[in-house]
Amino acid sequence: MGQEITVRHIGDDEAAIVASLAVDAFAEYAAAMSPDAWSAFAREIASVGSGPSDDEILVAQRNGDIVGTLVSYTHWEGAQTDACNIRMIAVAPAHRGAGIAKALLTDAIDRCRRAGKSRVVMAINAEMGPGRSLCERLGFERYPAMDHMPAPGIHVQGYQLLL
Ligand SMILES: CC(C)(COP(=O)(O)OP(=O)(O)OC[C@H]1O[C@@H](n2cnc3c(N)ncnc32)[C@H](O)[C@@H]1OP(=O)(O)O)[C@@H](O)C(=O)NCCC(=O)NCCS
Repeated sequence: MGQEITVRHIGDDEAAIVASLAVDAFAEYAAAMSPDAWSAFAREIASVGSGPSDDEILVAQRNGDIVGTLVSYTHWEGAQTDACNIRMIAVAPAHRGAGIAKALLTDAIDRCRRAGKSRVVMAINAEMGPGRSLCERLGFERYPAMDHMPAPGIHVQGYQLLL
């Protein structure tokens, strides 16, 4: 399999492909959630592409196929204006371990920097070990101010990268 990975904005007609990829990517965590919590989470993920216009949705393409995605909020609700909030990093299971998430996140961080932001923040479910390792690998540090519990038993941990 070729290794060339390109990162770009989502295309006009790609929201359904990206939503399906993202739900499939996170499905491994369904068993760790209550059915209600997973169904709410899956609905939220599947709504990617229908959010406010300041969501920046990036996709990673490999050999012509979309194999990964992330969302960057430049003006996320409740945030200080100096931060970008990156969420929903998702890579198709068959393409993991090839640097696709790293390429997406690096590109998104560069975009935040170019937008004049001084921080990138992320909130990651405590169950999602690979996501936490990915952030730490790229220099993020724990940011407890963003820790919260969106549903009973779901612990979300904040991470921050100073630009
Ligand atoms: C987390 C996820 C996005 C990683 O995607 P990926 O393309 O396989 O990651 P990469 O190949 O770019 O790996 C980048 C770094 O992340 C870390 N990492 C990735 N997968 C890992 C795993 N399974 N275990 C431990 N660390 C992992 C490593 O530090 C890796 O760097 P290294 O290979 O140089 O050591 C992918 O597993 C996924 O989609 N998971 C389900 C959704 C999710 O949990 N998203 C994160 C929370 S928003």
